[in-house]
Amino acid sequence: MCGIVGYIGHRDPLEIVISGLHRLEYRGYDSAGVAYLPDGAQQIEVIRAVGKIKDLERAVQQKAPVPGIHHVGIGHTRWATHGAPTELNAHPHRSNNGKFAIVHNGIIENYSEIKRRLTEKGYVFSSETDSEVVAHLLEELYEGDFRAAVVRMLEHLQGAYGLCIMCSDHPDMLIAARKGSPIVVGVGSGETIIASDVSAIVNYTNRVIYLKDGDIVTATTSEVDITECNSMPVSRETSEIEWDVEQIEKGGFDHFMLKEIHEQPEAIANAIRGRMILEDGMSVLSGMQMDAFDMARVDRMIIAACGTSYYAGMTGQYFFEEFAGLPTGVEQAAEFRYRNPVIQRDSCMLAISQSGETADTLAAVREAKRKGTRVLGICNVVGSTIARETGAGVYLHAGPEISVASTKAFTCQVAVLALLALGFARTRRMSMEEGRHIVEGLQQLPDLVRRVLETAETIREVAERYASYENFFFIGRGYMYPAALEGALKLKEVSYIHAEGYHAAELKHGPIALLGEQVPVVALAPDTPGKGKTQGNMQECLARKSPVIALATEGDEEIRTHCTDVLFIPKCPEFIATVPVVVVEQLLAYYIARARGCPIDQPRNLAKSVTVE
Ligand code: F6R
Repeated sequence: MCGIVGYIGHRDPLEIVISGLHRLEYRGYDSAGVAYLPDGAQQIEVIRAVGKIKDLERAVQQKAPVPGIHHVGIGHTRWATHGAPTELNAHPHRSNNGKFAIVHNGIIENYSEIKRRLTEKGYVFSSETDSEVVAHLLEELYEGDFRAAVVRMLEHLQGAYGLCIMCSDHPDMLIAARKGSPIVVGVGSGETIIASDVSAIVNYTNRVIYLKDGDIVTATTSEVDITECNSMPVSRETSEIEWDVEQIEKGGFDHFMLKEIHEQPEAIANAIRGRMILEDGMSVLSGMQMDAFDMARVDRMIIAACGTSYYAGMTGQYFFEEFAGLPTGVEQAAEFRYRNPVIQRDSCMLAISQSGETADTLAAVREAKRKGTRVLGICNVVGSTIARETGAGVYLHAGPEISVASTKAFTCQVAVLALLALGFARTRRMSMEEGRHIVEGLQQLPDLVRRVLETAETIREVAERYASYENFFFIGRGYMYPAALEGALKLKEVSYIHAEGYHAAELKHGPIALLGEQVPVVALAPDTPGKGKTQGNMQECLARKSPVIALATEGDEEIRTHCTDVLFIPKCPEFIATVPVVVVEQLLAYYIARARGCPIDQPRNLAKSVTVE
C-alpha cells in the first residue's frame, strides 16, 4: 500500500523524508519520490524513481540538491493502482506552474470527470494516475491562500484520500488531509512529521496525533492546527507511541497474517468502491474494456487460477451460473495449460491471481490467447505479468499481501467476482430489482467482516482447544463447498496440520473411514439452502465420535444439537456468506498455528509467488 511522509522543521527535509520512506518499505511499493523547494526558487522540484528507495536515493544524489533548501519536503512510496509503476506515475505530482506538489494515498473515484474538465481548460497531465488531478485542481483554485485552496479542492473529490501538500508560495507550511486513508501527525520540538503510518515518525518523536476522517491539518515548525473540512477548529488528542518499530510495521499485530485478516473491511471497501450503481442494480468495471454488447455475446466463462485464487474462482462459478445463467467452468491453471481444452468462439477467460506472476496461471492465459479467447485478469499487483498480458480486467486494490498465506486477496477476489457476475447478469436475465439486491448485499461486506473480527477472542479460545489434533476435515455444500476447501488449505499451510476439504455429501463415499475421536470436522452450516442436509452430515460425524465445530448463523441455537462447538457469523444473504465464513476459518487457522508455535508469516516450503511450474 502507498506510504506518505512530509516534514517541516529545522533539519534537512530530504534526509528525514527518505528515512521515513525506508520505514514504510515493509508495506510494499513499486516506485517512490520526493519533492523539495530549493532556496529562492519559485517552483518545487520533484525527484522520482521506479524500484526501491535506494534507487530514489541514487537519483537524489545525482540531482544533488544544492545546500540551502527550505526545510519542508514530502515523499511517497507508491503501490500502483491507476497506471503502471513508472517514473511519471510515481508521486509527488506537481501542478503545471510548479507551485504545488502533492502525495496521495487512496482512490479518487471521480478523477476521470475532473481530468476531462481540467484538460479542456488547458491543464497538462503527465501521468495516468487518479492522484494528479489534486495538483492541478489546487492550481486552478488558488488565489494566494494555501489553506483556502486546499479546502476548496477537497470539495471536488469523491473517494478516499490521505493527502500531504506543499506550496512554493508558503514554504513555512505543510498541509495534510484525511478521508478514508490514515494520516498521523508527529509533533516534535521545532518540527512536524506527517505520515500515513507511525513507523515513519517514531525515530523522531513519540508524540502523535491520529487525524479523523474529514480533518485538515496545517503544520508549521512550531504549530499544528487541525480543522474539520468546514474550517471549524477541532482539538485532537496527542498520544504517546509505546511500540517498537517492528511492532508498528505490523500495525501492532504479532504477524502480517493477522494484520491482513484485520485489514479486510478496508480492503473489501476499496475493492468495491465506486464500482456499483445502486439505483441501476449494476456494476461498473471500466478496466474490463467490454460494453454490454460484448458481455451479452459471451456464451461460456472459463476461470483459471491456482490455490486460494482457484477456490475464489469456484465461488465465482456459482455467481456466474446463479446470477447470469452463464455456463462457467473452473480450471486448475496447471491442468488447463496441458489439456488441450476445447474453447468455443465466444468464451471468455478470467485469470485470477493475487501476485499476477503465478507461472501456471500465466501459461493458461497464453494458451487461451493462442486459441483466440478474450482473457480478463483479476490481479492484485498492478503492472504484474498477468495484468499486463491480459491487458484488461479488474484490480483488487486490496493492498500488498505480505503474509505467504493469502487472506485479504481471497475475500476481495470473491467480492470482485460477484461484481463481474452482476455485470454479465444485467446483460441477461437479471432484473434491476435483483441487481439492487446484489449491490446491497455487497455493500454489507465490510461491516460483516468487521463483526466477525469482533469475535476473534471466541475463535481463539476454540482454536486453542483444538490445536493439538493432527488431522481435520472441513465440509460444506453449495457456496460453502469452496469455502471448505479454502479453510482446509489455510489450516494446513500455517499450522502443518493435515486438513482436507470435502463436499459435505462426499464424506460418506470414502473419507468417513478416517473419522474418529482424533479427527475434528469443521462443518460450514450457515443459513443457506443446504443447511439441513449438512446438519445430517454433521450427525454422521458425531456418530463416528469426531468432534464437530460448526460455523453457523448468529441466532441459530438449534445448531448446538448437531455439533461439539459453534462459531457464529452475522446474518447475511447466502451469496455473500462465503466472506464472513472464510474470515472465521482464517482466524481459526491463525490461532491454531500460533498455539503450535509455527512461523506463521513464512511457513516452511512455501513462497508468496510461485513462478515455477
Ligand atoms: C494460499 C496461497 C496460494 C496462492 C497460489 C496462487 O494461501 O497463497 O495457494 O493462492 O499460489 O497465487 P496467486 O493468487 O498469486 O496466483
